[in-house]
Amino acid sequence: MINLDHVSFAYPEQGPSVNDVSFRVEDGEFVAILGANGAGKTTTVRLIDGLIRPTAGKVEINGTDTVTSSVSERARKVGFLFQNPDRQICKNTVREEILFGLQTVRGDEGEEALRARCEEVLKDFGFSGDEEPFSLSRGQRQRVALASILAVEPEILILDEPTTGLDYFECCHIMDRIRRMNEENRVTVIMVCHDMEVVLDYAKRALVMAGGHLLADGPVKEIFRDAALMEKASILAPQMISLSTRLGEGFEDADSPESVADAVLALRKGGARHA
Ligand SMILES: Nc1ncnc2c1ncn2[C@@H]1O[C@H](COP(=O)(O)OP(=O)(O)OP(=O)(O)O)[C@@H](O)[C@H]1O
Ligand SMILES: [Mg+2]
Repeated sequence: MINLDHVSFAYPEQGPSVNDVSFRVEDGEFVAILGANGAGKTTTVRLIDGLIRPTAGKVEINGTDTVTSSVSERARKVGFLFQNPDRQICKNTVREEILFGLQTVRGDEGEEALRARCEEVLKDFGFSGDEEPFSLSRGQRQRVALASILAVEPEILILDEPTTGLDYFECCHIMDRIRRMNEENRVTVIMVCHDMEVVLDYAKRALVMAGGHLLADGPVKEIFRDAALMEKASILAPQMISLSTRLGEGFEDADSPESVADAVLALRKGGARHA
């Protein structure tokens, strides 16, 4: 679905922010992009969205080069949720906001169909439609932004730090919905995230970036267990992973308090000494 082939990008009068990066993402994957500040994560997702064009290499979405596809084609295929929902919300009610996104991207479908789709999304997200976005909480505004993106049914959903500024409950609410969309509707998700606990809970594969380069690409747990890689990328692995790595043999799959307890019991049954 997404193919980056030796992609580089430099902002004017700067060295490369993304440097010779290649990876592919298949339909229905949930991929996290990790790395320190300035690693090139946002630049990479902007390249996927076609907001910027590579200075070298090529980015393809479903086999079409982003350089040759139109803005409306890309908007139909790729939804982009920014860290700050207020950069995306521009209307006075939630209904108008969702309808606006639909009219912009799927305007050819006729007003009646779009209004019906809008009502469906409002119901699904639990909005009446008459709410004023700017009187809602930050978490609810993030849900409004997400609802208007998902309303157009993009094939790819890009999230750039979607949980920053949200409390734990709001974070789970948003992320659970995204996971459901990913599992039920096969929306392909690319998520930039600084919260490694969220990455562990939701993403299946991780790409690690540093200084514009792609350092690693693999299953989330394997990536977090690579202590040398974590240090090189200045990433602090989730506590449960650090703990299970330190506990060593028998704890390879322990990534929650419950599974650590299970592993202890399993070792005791087996009569292992250090259990
Ligand atoms: N609009 C811009 N103009 C010039 N340089 C930029 C611009 N945006 C980013 N950069 C530079 O490109 C590099 C990569 O930035 P990018 O925003 O992709 O990093 P990031 O991994 O998303 O970081 P963060 O975690 O802080 O969001 C940095 O050195 C940054 O200073
Ligand atoms: Mg960024």
